[in-house]
Amino acid sequence: MLKQMTTSESALITAAREARNKSKAKFSHFRVGAALEARNGDIYSAFNVESSSYGLSMCAERIAVWKAITAGESEFSRIAIVSDAEDFCTPCGACRQVLYELAGDIRVYMTDSKGNLKAEMLSSLLPDAFTSKTLLNGRD
Ligand code: THU
Repeated sequence: MLKQMTTSESALITAAREARNKSKAKFSHFRVGAALEARNGDIYSAFNVESSSYGLSMCAERIAVWKAITAGESEFSRIAIVSDAEDFCTPCGACRQVLYELAGDIRVYMTDSKGNLKAEMLSSLLPDAFTSKTLLNGRD
């Protein structure tokens, strides 16, 4: 869904852009930044970090959520994702799964190179997600 940007959304997107500008994407040259907001308003931003083995590279979104979790956060409200691409940068499948499990059904903001803003709930990007509920027979 395309939408107008509020001031707090704009702050989150700015944090993601600032992170993207520090990206370590030496091999793909595809810079990504993510800014994850905890319920208490704290923002955890990160960028993609690539490895010469390629497969050991890591996406911005997963680094952001791990950074927040290891800082003691457990409740989240939203994440902004930006890249240099013309089109919206949507989170990869692995990031959708990890975000859903660790951050819950948060709002995901994506911007394109023209500055258009799109917002989707994570559950609509990852319908019927596999979660610990299935794994633990209904217990969470
Ligand atoms: N990447 C991210 O950081 N997040 C995404 O949502 C998509 C892809 C990174 C991984 C890799 O470093 C580069 O972008 C190209 O795939």
